[in-house]
Amino acid sequence: MNESTFYSEDPEYVKYKDNTRLNHIPGDYGKPLIGYTFSYVQRPFDLMDDLRGKYGDVFRTSMTFQKFVVALGPEYIKQLTLDSDKVFSSRMGYHAPLKHFFEGGLLMRDFAAHKFHRRIMQAAFKTDAMRNYVDTMHPVIDSQLDSWSKDDDFHFYPNVKELLLDVGAKVFLGLDLAGGETQRLNEAFLAMGEGSLAVIRKDWPGLGLAYRKGMNGRRYLDKFFLDLVPKRRTGDSANASDMATFFANETTEGGELFPIDVVSKHLIFLLLAAHDTTTAALTMACCYLADNPQWQGRLREEARAVVGGNSGNIAYDDLANMPDTGNVFKEVERLHPSVPAFMRRTVRDTEIGGFMVPAHTPVQVSPLYTQRMEEWWKDPHSFDPDRFVREEHKQHPFLWAPFGGGAHKCIGLHFADMLFKCVMSSLLLRYEISFADGDGFPDAIQHFPFPKPQNQLPLKLTKL
Ligand code: HEM
Repeated sequence: MNESTFYSEDPEYVKYKDNTRLNHIPGDYGKPLIGYTFSYVQRPFDLMDDLRGKYGDVFRTSMTFQKFVVALGPEYIKQLTLDSDKVFSSRMGYHAPLKHFFEGGLLMRDFAAHKFHRRIMQAAFKTDAMRNYVDTMHPVIDSQLDSWSKDDDFHFYPNVKELLLDVGAKVFLGLDLAGGETQRLNEAFLAMGEGSLAVIRKDWPGLGLAYRKGMNGRRYLDKFFLDLVPKRRTGDSANASDMATFFANETTEGGELFPIDVVSKHLIFLLLAAHDTTTAALTMACCYLADNPQWQGRLREEARAVVGGNSGNIAYDDLANMPDTGNVFKEVERLHPSVPAFMRRTVRDTEIGGFMVPAHTPVQVSPLYTQRMEEWWKDPHSFDPDRFVREEHKQHPFLWAPFGGGAHKCIGLHFADMLFKCVMSSLLLRYEISFADGDGFPDAIQHFPFPKPQNQLPLKLTKL
């Protein structure tokens, strides 16, 4: 097959509508049209637990205007992500909510085409490249963290979101963004996030629709990246060490550069995949660390031990010597996975948990549920990073699976761990963090599209 067909030819299975003939599988569809959407958005674990109590580990249900099969537990996460029979399409699983916003990204590609495209990212995640990213990101982190203490009404979430956008601009794109440009990029990504959840999914002008705003965001990013990629192929830039330069200069096995629009789409998806996920992890971690001075102290001591004092920056080789910080990251991703559910659609008839699941059926597995199942985890709803020292997660290889598995396993998982450790150590070496006066652990946590406290996490930062 000619390589160019990987870019353009649609496989046969994308032409079919979702299969909804599922009455042979136990379950129910909740309210007409909206199904269980609202209960899921408000209390996803409880809803899954109720439905599992009624119907067992595998059931049919409906939410966000879609009917699908849910399969709960680590064995189903394994079946769906490892996909040894090549029966689960990621592209069609995420098609309904994300098709226009994620277009051209790795999760929107399947099987041989996906493998072909994943190659574009390989050099960008090798050790030497990662080593460089650590050094590049520290000055950005330092300059922003120093300014945080000047804000009397400090909210962690918007500040860390902006910080990570600046880190991303530098590390992923090789750009020092000026104020207005950061703002416009930030707005475009935010609009796409909100657009992906919109109920009215029409790109109509003049009505202020969230979907339209999201699509305008995507059009802005398309233009921005189509300008950027050619610049990353020329002159000095081609020797730089940002991710855009790696992607822009990667070749196919046949030695051809990837087309500019293909590179551009991968970069947009990469930023989407990297930014909100790590923002969520750092924000939820700070909720628990403000609530647990003891854990906060342990992480500060760990950071002091690796930098050799009260200030300084961790280096790439220090990452392996920060087990407590790593376990806090793991525990936060267990309790509040940044990607709460994985979606796929069957490309032909298959069997799940003893039920025949017809071709073109959307299927969901749930790290959010699996990572709190009482039969596997001790005291599953409590924050206990030491459970990873006790190796509770090792009872099953997919019991803790916030980064997925198989062909689509998160390519940025080590980058995410590195970013988490760099930001967290820099923060805790500077400040003691506590909830703003009168506040306790936020009682309203939003789960979708990414976990965060609804109050944006007001924090008191006390300089050390
Ligand atoms: C806390 C941080 C993160 C979490 C929890 C996370 C989680 C995930 C998960 C679960 C998937 C697979 C979804 C599925 O199979 O349906 C995924 C895919 C992906 N992630 Fe991450 N991610 C994180 C950070 C990052 C970062 C920092 C980057 C890039 C630097 C990144 C880049 C990607 C890419 C490109 C894919 C698509 C891989 C493919 O389809 O082959 N992620 N991520």
